[in-house]
Amino acid sequence: MDQSIVFDLDLIKRYDKSGPRYTSYPTALELHEGFGEAEYLRHIQKSNAAGGPLSLYFHIPFCDTVCFYCACNKIVTKNRAHAVPYLDNLCKEIEMQGKLFDNSRPVNQLHWGGGTPTFLNYQQMKRLMETTREHFNLHDDDSGEYSIEVDPRETNDLTIAQLRELGFNRISLGLQDFDPDVQKAVNRLQSKEQTFAVLEAARKEGFRSTNIDLIYGLPLQTVNSFADTLDQVLAYAPDRFSIFNYAHMPSRFKTQRQINDADLPTSAVKLEILQMVGQKLTDAGYVYIGMDHFAKPDDELAVAQREGKLYRNFQGYSTHSDCDLVGLGVTSIGRVGDAYMQNYKELDEYDAAISQGKLPVFRGVDLDQDDKLRRAVITQLICHFELTFSKIETEFAINFAEYFAPELENLRLMKADGLLDLNADGIQVSTAGRLLIRNICMVFDKYLAQKQQQFSKVI
Ligand SMILES: C[S@@+](CC[C@H](N)C(=O)[O-])C[C@H]1O[C@@H](n2cnc3c(N)ncnc32)[C@H](O)[C@@H]1O
Ligand code: SF4
Repeated sequence: MDQSIVFDLDLIKRYDKSGPRYTSYPTALELHEGFGEAEYLRHIQKSNAAGGPLSLYFHIPFCDTVCFYCACNKIVTKNRAHAVPYLDNLCKEIEMQGKLFDNSRPVNQLHWGGGTPTFLNYQQMKRLMETTREHFNLHDDDSGEYSIEVDPRETNDLTIAQLRELGFNRISLGLQDFDPDVQKAVNRLQSKEQTFAVLEAARKEGFRSTNIDLIYGLPLQTVNSFADTLDQVLAYAPDRFSIFNYAHMPSRFKTQRQINDADLPTSAVKLEILQMVGQKLTDAGYVYIGMDHFAKPDDELAVAQREGKLYRNFQGYSTHSDCDLVGLGVTSIGRVGDAYMQNYKELDEYDAAISQGKLPVFRGVDLDQDDKLRRAVITQLICHFELTFSKIETEFAINFAEYFAPELENLRLMKADGLLDLNADGIQVSTAGRLLIRNICMVFDKYLAQKQQQFSKVI
């Protein structure tokens, strides 16, 4: 498959509106408190009967300092002692959940996210991994896809060696921007030396995939300053880039109010930055995976996309389509069978549930047949930029043209605009439409009309 993109400024301007990132469908906004422990247990039973590998997500919410732009679920504290009771409860949750899942199911994917997982010290990380190994069937031959998000300001060569020893083999580094003025404006001071030392240590220790997170649209950023950051990182050739569009929603994220609106780049500058990013990464040989992600052509994500095996979940793109995802820790979201479920978002509520010996699931959503159908369509489009109607018709026993008549009407307008090609057999997203894949998926989202204002801008 052709994995290139074309930057069409006019098209992007016309389609610049807010929308979900489709790490799930329905999105997390549809989770409701009518779904609790009983419903979760029912789905686990069904999932065990079906069998298959598992994916585990662990949320470590703590950060030492706050980055003003941050929209992640985190708890900012200098007090490392806060990790102790959290870790105790997380280990109890692992034991509780581990008992519910059939222990013969291998854990093909595991991810620690945050917050900042490296807020934990080595002994704590070791305990967390050992407890997981005790209650779930982890691979011990390095064949699982086990990944961690690290903050290079909190990590050194020794940490990287320890993480590898614990079983991690994929790593993602938060960077965002090297420009000193931008770093000051967002309260994240991070040197090149510490960032590249971590990247090099990860390579030396044999991490199979290295990712760098950058954000465009931060205060005081210019096309030239961001190009500088990108050039410096490109010289170290990480396997993947996540280049996020800054989601500025100060009414939802308090610390974003520390950012001066007047310092934010205009949409015209953001578009120029995006164009520059696409150009530089393509010139450097990276391919566009979709939705903010680029990878080297031999990275497993790029390979999975070419082979039609890419998938999307709460951690972004993944190669593990067949795994049920078990979310562990405060705010974690899981997907088990045909349901999504989330743990308590507040630490005290999470702690209270665990101390009472209860699963901390507080809300979720059961997918009906229409949700499953739309999820399959959206996942296929966002991962592979094409859809063959007959495949969906066979899987869901529908007539695509009849079921999605209004959606196809909308797609015809997009076809006229050059976003995609549409014929009797299916949809093919054009190289110019790829950067607007979210807009194309939005056509199939039944819930969107009521929710639009709650999402960040597409570009
Ligand atoms: C959990 S953090 C990564 C690990 C670690 N906490 C760190 O910052 O190095 C996840 C990533 O989300 C991205 N991010 C956070 N807030 C964002 C926002 N408002 N808009 C876009 N991306 C954001 C950043 O790129 C960040 O690296
Ligand atoms: S970007 Fe990372 S380190 Fe900064 S506040 Fe967010 S989660 Fe914490």
